[in-house]
Amino acid sequence: MDYQSVLERIANDVAPQIGRGRPAEYIPALAAVDRRHFGMAAADIDGRVYGVGDWQRPFSTQSITKVFTLALVLATGGDDLWAHVGREPSGNPFNSLVQLEYENGIPRNPFINAGALVVTDRLQTLTGDASSELLGFLRQESGNPDLAFDPKVAESESAHGDRNAALAHFMASYGNITNPVPTLLDHYFWQCAIEMSCADLALAARFLARHGIRADGSRLLTRSEAKQINAVMLTCGTYDAAGEFAHRVGLPGKSGVGGGIVAVVPGRCTLCVWSPGLDARGNSVAGVAALDRFTTLTGLSVF
Ligand code: DON
Repeated sequence: MDYQSVLERIANDVAPQIGRGRPAEYIPALAAVDRRHFGMAAADIDGRVYGVGDWQRPFSTQSITKVFTLALVLATGGDDLWAHVGREPSGNPFNSLVQLEYENGIPRNPFINAGALVVTDRLQTLTGDASSELLGFLRQESGNPDLAFDPKVAESESAHGDRNAALAHFMASYGNITNPVPTLLDHYFWQCAIEMSCADLALAARFLARHGIRADGSRLLTRSEAKQINAVMLTCGTYDAAGEFAHRVGLPGKSGVGGGIVAVVPGRCTLCVWSPGLDARGNSVAGVAALDRFTTLTGLSVF
């Protein structure tokens, strides 16, 4: 597969979509990012990386980190995680509160904010320092020791974090959060504020294309756990647009309100695309279009 030529063709094809949509406005530090950026990278399972546009420029990973915290909890012995978070699409916006009360404080899946808060709470209990654990893991898998948090983004989220605080406190009232809520929120906001490029993310997600095998050849997840994460990405990774994403792209994918999306072709490669203009459901407009083009041009999808 000539990934480089495919990526160049995609960049050309989606050019009219770049700049469409709006950056996340509820986190002021993200609202300031120029929406005309576009980058895309592909990493094959052997670690060769290809890219176009702004593929080496760091951006705010945001909810994409939810994939990695989930993997770390499953890998660190969080076997009972699924008693505390479901794996059904929510059909609601990523920061919605509405289902939590009538479903007794158990979030629908690990990729909506409520579910991610439960996962980060478990990682905090298992490791004592969830956000540092995550950053260390991402540095190792991407091979980039310079990955870092952006304190401006973390502080901006914290200053505008009433919605996430409400979710966490509400779940704590059901006993589904065990650490103090302010500690959990700190780790969650720092987690979302990790900056990575498309190249970093495509490399870091390779264990999902390698059936659970890490960059150094060791096993992170069982084959079955890697399958489970990919499956939940397909059904829940783009929130209330997951059906549309599966229909258009046909790959497990995880988006973030920084405008990034990671997608996985199991056994073949990982992809990451970034463009900050978001649609109404919080997914990158040009990013979804680019992944749509990728599967159309290459025929590489899980279907
Ligand atoms: O907690 C939040 O709202 C953000 N830090 C992350 C949300 C997000 O990325 C949803 N993605 N599309």
